[in-house]
Amino acid sequence: MALRTILEFPDPRLRTRAQPVTRFDAALGTLIDDLLETMYAAPGIGLAATQVDVHQRVIVIDVSKEHNEPLTLINPVILAREGEASTEEGCLSVPGIFDDVKRATKVRVRSHDRKGREHEGEYQDVLAVCIQHEMDHLEGKLFVDYLSDLKRERIRKKLEKERRERGSRPAANATGARRAY
Ligand code: NI
Repeated sequence: MALRTILEFPDPRLRTRAQPVTRFDAALGTLIDDLLETMYAAPGIGLAATQVDVHQRVIVIDVSKEHNEPLTLINPVILAREGEASTEEGCLSVPGIFDDVKRATKVRVRSHDRKGREHEGEYQDVLAVCIQHEMDHLEGKLFVDYLSDLKRERIRKKLEKERRERGSRPAANATGARRAY
């Protein structure tokens, strides 16, 4: 396993639309293991392959405290949505920034697992929000796209300033109540 570098806004590679996975092989297994390791190390509760510059439709999520409930969704499709609520979101590709985004509170999702088996599941609350956020990454979309142009521009400037100041050191990610994905 290996840690991968997480791309940061406004890196244009984050705007790439990911392709469906067609080969459920050892390379896919390595990618999934690397995504999980990179997500746990960040620390974060979700990560899309897009964020590590791999443009395949793969997302990993683990919202458990003990990091023992990893969820891998490959080629995910939302079949149904229910409810709507605003939740404060954070993103590993937009370090240190948190803002409210309106999403469905419950989603029904069809996806494949790492062996290529098809699954359907219902997810709610933080899991539902996280899945919708990660699926946006696969479309080249970021949570800051839901904010005003003015706000997004302020965030871009703030992150660029912080990157200049910290040099090659990695960004500090939130822990505790505020979680990024
Ligand atoms: Ni994100």
